[in-house]
Amino acid sequence: MSVIETHDLKKSYGFLQAVKGISFDVRSGEIFSMLGPNGAGKTTTIEILEGLRTKDSGDVNVLGLDPWKNGYELHKRIGVIPQGFRFFDKATPKEAINYYADLFGVKTNAEQILQEVILQDAENNYFENLSGGQKQKVGLALSLVNNPELLFLDEPTTGLDPQARRAVWQVIKNLKKAGRSIVLTTHYLEEAEQLADRVAIMDDGLIIATGSPHEIEQRFGSQERIKVIGGRQLADYIKTNSNFKVTYDDSTSEIEIAIQSKNDALMAVRLIEQSGLDWSDLSTEKDSLEDIFLRLISNTAEAADSFHTS
Ligand SMILES: Nc1ncnc2c1ncn2[C@@H]1O[C@H](COP(=O)(O)OP(=O)(O)O)[C@@H](O)[C@H]1O
Ligand SMILES: [Mg+2]
Repeated sequence: MSVIETHDLKKSYGFLQAVKGISFDVRSGEIFSMLGPNGAGKTTTIEILEGLRTKDSGDVNVLGLDPWKNGYELHKRIGVIPQGFRFFDKATPKEAINYYADLFGVKTNAEQILQEVILQDAENNYFENLSGGQKQKVGLALSLVNNPELLFLDEPTTGLDPQARRAVWQVIKNLKKAGRSIVLTTHYLEEAEQLADRVAIMDDGLIIATGSPHEIEQRFGSQERIKVIGGRQLADYIKTNSNFKVTYDDSTSEIEIAIQSKNDALMAVRLIEQSGLDWSDLSTEKDSLEDIFLRLISNTAEAADSFHTS
């Protein structure tokens, strides 16, 4: 079952085409991550889904509603943290939650929400005195006030140190366990890898790959390969005695053997041994999601620059 269906969505700001026709579905109960460098069009897309921005064309359906036409009904059922969330300096997390509950006109259990976002320790501290991670947790807490079935988190850990980022990840994992569907935008590859059931890699207004991290690795990764340090003679021996694609790097004495299966791997190792030649440092290698991501978005040098892995 899908909570979001998007087909051929487009949005321009004047002459700038921010979203150039993207299609994707988000399934109930999953964490769906839009991963891409700054300027890819993630916030524009998410704001259209939230009903905060109009689309130019295409179909958008969120929880069975048109976000723009049925915004009032939709906002009762979704939770949102905007990019760069902030709150009043002199409010405590508990006050913030109660303030939001009043705004929404809903009854809420502040203690329970503070527990869900792991913020009980700081419930009475002023916002201005909270750490970066705690501030983001206040944002998460506020997005939960109306007990939403679907959450939109726009770059929830940008600017946090690694430890705070992990704390926020833990909360996001809890939110999923509680059965909420989550759309998460990020430019941190590790975040998508750690949290997302499925990822849409976005660059320059387009989705260039979709799937689980594993599926993306399968589809876009280069072949698995065996690497071994040895001489050109060894490389030639393997080439002559097999059908493997073998490459040799003179400067590093590194031999690469492309393999398709476990059996290939065993055969390659056997050949190396049979050759009777010297070798060392045998390992297998495969593209990581990071290698793939960087390659897919490398056509825009600037995009690659603004992408960080940690
Ligand atoms: N309100 C706006 N007016 C004009 N251009 C905008 C506006 N918002 C975003 N853009 C531009 O649209 C492109 C996509 O931006 P955005 O959706 O914020 O991407 P992301 O969230 O992936 O960084 C960028 O080139 C950005 O400068
Ligand atoms: Mg953004």
